[in-house]
Amino acid sequence: MKKMLTGLQPTGVITLGNYIGAIKQMVEYQEQYDTYMFVADLHAITVPNDKLDLSEKTRSLIALYLACGVDPDKVTIFAQSNNEYHTNVAWMLECNSYFGELSRMHQFKEKSKKSENFTAGLFTYPVLMAADILIYDSDIVPVGIDQKQHVELARDIAIRFNNKYGETFTVPEPVMSVTGTKIMDMIDPTKKMSKSSENQNGVIRLLDEPEVARKKIMRATTDSEMAVKFDVENKPGISNLINIYSALTGKKTEEVEKEFEGSNYGTFKKAVAEVTIGKITEIQEKYNEVLNSGMVDQVLKAGADKTREIAKKKYELVKQRLGFYM
Ligand code: TYM
Repeated sequence: MKKMLTGLQPTGVITLGNYIGAIKQMVEYQEQYDTYMFVADLHAITVPNDKLDLSEKTRSLIALYLACGVDPDKVTIFAQSNNEYHTNVAWMLECNSYFGELSRMHQFKEKSKKSENFTAGLFTYPVLMAADILIYDSDIVPVGIDQKQHVELARDIAIRFNNKYGETFTVPEPVMSVTGTKIMDMIDPTKKMSKSSENQNGVIRLLDEPEVARKKIMRATTDSEMAVKFDVENKPGISNLINIYSALTGKKTEEVEKEFEGSNYGTFKKAVAEVTIGKITEIQEKYNEVLNSGMVDQVLKAGADKTREIAKKKYELVKQRLGFYM
């Protein structure tokens, strides 16, 4: 059975973009693949943040995975920091990665601009991500388009390592959902919807009060035309709403355009708000049930035990390939 893996950082709030870009795909594929889904808490400390409250946020994110329909009987769910082999393997991979290639990562370029005092961890972040992926021999990695370059780097590192030291890692493939690979901000639809956005009116959170989410959608920036047409360049706001509607209803872009032919933007936005609220309400009801049920801690414990065993084997193979004393 092919293996699939993805992770989300437990920072800030989990957005509709995270859901459409990553979580929803995992739920759809969990029947077909041997699936791993984790909380990337070690990645969360690459940017300084005094108020991270990682323990609570990790529990909350696991509860969200479960509430979104990730089935713990099918998916191995765990926290990255509960498995020390990730950082052990990452070091070995760092010594087989190049300063030049890491300097070319878009996310690093963007985030390092924000502060002169960015951390070394921010720079080596993609190699830890490569370790996350390669340890489990993941065949496919569902991500939003913003993480595609990192998965491609993991591919390069795997190929390089295999060529140099002998077959060790499966070479992974990024996969993106057909629509909604990048959900944009409601206020500035040329910018990614991001947990860390300064203006939270542009960000729909999975745990937003339904009426708050409705307002954000009804006030979403559009254009002065009145046609519900997909055209990212000239109509980024409407195209983003089409992506959301299409991802949440499973309808193709053309079907959405047809459904709203002749409708004004108000009518279309109302429809987008309805499906979004329907989805987040369903998630929130389950989230509240799961969060304090004891299930979260149970799932984390089982995930740590299982993944440590798998990861230890890969770590030992990597050490062996590199010629360490064992
Ligand atoms: P993170 O936490 O920033 O985002 C989690 C997932 O959500 C996707 N995403 C989006 N998709 C569509 N539209 C958006 N606006 C949007 N915003 C975020 C991201 O592409 C991602 O798939 N480095 C990763 C976590 C990670 C990981 C891994 C992922 C660590 N190790 C190994 C896969 C495999 C991150 O920070 O994602």
